[in-house]
Amino acid sequence: MELMKRTATCGALRSGDSGRTVILNGWVHRRRDHGGISFINLRDRYGITQAVVGQDAPAELKALVADLRNEYCVALEGLVRRRPDDMVNPAMPTGEIEVLVTRLVILNRCDVLPFQIGDESSAGEDLRLKYRYLDLRSAGMQNRIRLRAEVSFAVREWMTAQGFYEIETPTFIKSTPEGARDYLVPSRLYPGKFYALPQSPQLYKQLLMAAGFDKYFQIARCYRDEDARGDRQPEFTQIDIEMSFVDREDVLAMTEGLMAHVFKKTLGVELPAKFRRLTWEEAQERYGSDKPDLRFDLPLQDFGPFAEAGGFQAFKDALSQGEAARQAAAQRGVKAAGGAVKALVVPAALMPAPYSRKQIEELEAHAKIYRAKGLAWMKVAPAGSPGPVLEGGVSKFFADQGAAIVSALGAAPGDLILLAADSRRGVANTALGAVRSKLGRDLNLSGGPSRFEFVWIVDFPMFEFNEEENRWEAAHHMFTWPQEKYHASLESDPGSVKGDLYDLVLNGFELASGSIRIHDPELQKRIFNIAGFDNAEAERRFGFLTEAFKYGAPPHGGIAPGLDRLVMIMAGETSIKEVIAFPKNSFAVSPMDDSPGTVDARQLNDLHLAITD
Ligand code: AMO
Ligand code: AMP
Repeated sequence: MELMKRTATCGALRSGDSGRTVILNGWVHRRRDHGGISFINLRDRYGITQAVVGQDAPAELKALVADLRNEYCVALEGLVRRRPDDMVNPAMPTGEIEVLVTRLVILNRCDVLPFQIGDESSAGEDLRLKYRYLDLRSAGMQNRIRLRAEVSFAVREWMTAQGFYEIETPTFIKSTPEGARDYLVPSRLYPGKFYALPQSPQLYKQLLMAAGFDKYFQIARCYRDEDARGDRQPEFTQIDIEMSFVDREDVLAMTEGLMAHVFKKTLGVELPAKFRRLTWEEAQERYGSDKPDLRFDLPLQDFGPFAEAGGFQAFKDALSQGEAARQAAAQRGVKAAGGAVKALVVPAALMPAPYSRKQIEELEAHAKIYRAKGLAWMKVAPAGSPGPVLEGGVSKFFADQGAAIVSALGAAPGDLILLAADSRRGVANTALGAVRSKLGRDLNLSGGPSRFEFVWIVDFPMFEFNEEENRWEAAHHMFTWPQEKYHASLESDPGSVKGDLYDLVLNGFELASGSIRIHDPELQKRIFNIAGFDNAEAERRFGFLTEAFKYGAPPHGGIAPGLDRLVMIMAGETSIKEVIAFPKNSFAVSPMDDSPGTVDARQLNDLHLAITD
């Protein structure tokens, strides 16, 4: 077979190239025959060029063309010529020209395709993943993989310009705790011993700070054995960053600069110089989430005072039970938030038609997924209606407060008011926050995927209480610096401690997490103890870190944006599989190579492993 090397790509030729003789290499995207003339759309990753085989072409060439099927890989030579004016295709970058073919070589044929290229919708996910190399040929996948490469490059470009070193850290390590299960690698040399694959380079980047590399980054692969979801994969990539001699403001400003560069460079989008900020508590109270989508507002509001004064018993019970629980906790020296009744006003202007009872029931079912006991509602009467201001649902319990409620909530005629009550404030917030998110999707409030609303969530609680195990655990990871003002009360009141901990949220996704770290071995031990690791256990698992901190470790902090999530949002997608070349499916399986797979008995033997059922 003759190798005809390309002299142009399929996306390059313009009318200025008319008269050139070129060689193109690519895939047959489509072939059309019109009255003896054949049009071949030839595709490569740069674009599509129309090639033409005329009526008067030699019979041998015509026979070859007649043989062409979609996705044959071919080389062709021909003369570039301007298309007749009425044939110019302004939708194609190469639409002004075509290539009159003089020579054609079939480099490789293609079997019957399992699905048509570019028609992902007709192929199920597993079929796409089984033939991922075909799926990757589609314009959508090609664009997203290109965007990913450009984002990675822009990250390296900016970080390097800021004086950061890219340093690799090992992927066979001792377990780093990020809260998920580890993937383990059995050791052949040491029977019964295992390496863990890193859930993140967390400990190593801190050790690099102890080593004096004050600005580190790495585009790092991370491994977590957790259930896959739209924005989660068992292996994924972080833009991992750590800096010495910095406070929170430095890390936030650096990240804002990085995002600004990446968005400008790859999408041409100008981001604000500073991102909005919400404390964790504000985010919970106002949006019922620590990752609110701020492309729309739709805030939760406090309905407590009206609930107390009104006659709806479920609301009063939620508040009184919440108060009782708060007092009981206070007796034990623990702060609890008590109950809440929260309201969400859905403006009439945002609803195409007033919500039906059935639609409200759907919202209620959604709230219940998030442990709500129910979702009460009422409507603001239309303007000029003679009856009471509030109508329907639970309005009868609030008849004499109608005008005050409408004014306090800033509601207008025709608006729908949704209410959630719970003796646990967090449950009321989270459930109504989930309803808010659903309304955002159902009513299309986000203004589309090309809007980017960043928000920092700061002042997270340091510890969360694990009800099942009856112990406190680190909300982020155990290396986070507790804010100074809580150092004296760490042990006595862990629930109130705020960490120097921040998340970057983009369009409702947690994009990045980070914190200022503990560099004091004594403080680190106290945190391990509160999180239920006694000194011996902490020593066994993280001794090498606390040891390193004894040798003049500098104050340091960092952050890690998820690269997959970043590219996913930039590409307007909702699943990170769309921006990963070879992802696993939702069951952590790769249908293409069938991993995970079984191994030979001999391999197991070598590793001193036996499979039990
Ligand atoms: P964290 O565990 O919050 O923090 O992870 C940081 C970011 O990584 C991304 N991410 C994921 N992306 C895809 N699939 C997953 N399974 C997955 N898990 C996490 C998210 C998330 O915001 N070492 C700390 C960072 C630090 O403190 O510097 C860490 O790993 O975008
Ligand atoms: P009930 O009186 O239990 O039939 O409830 C009347 C309405 O109030 C229903 O729409 C319930 O969904 C709602 N409701 C009941 N309990 C709560 C609660 N804790 N928070 C919000 N709505 C509730």
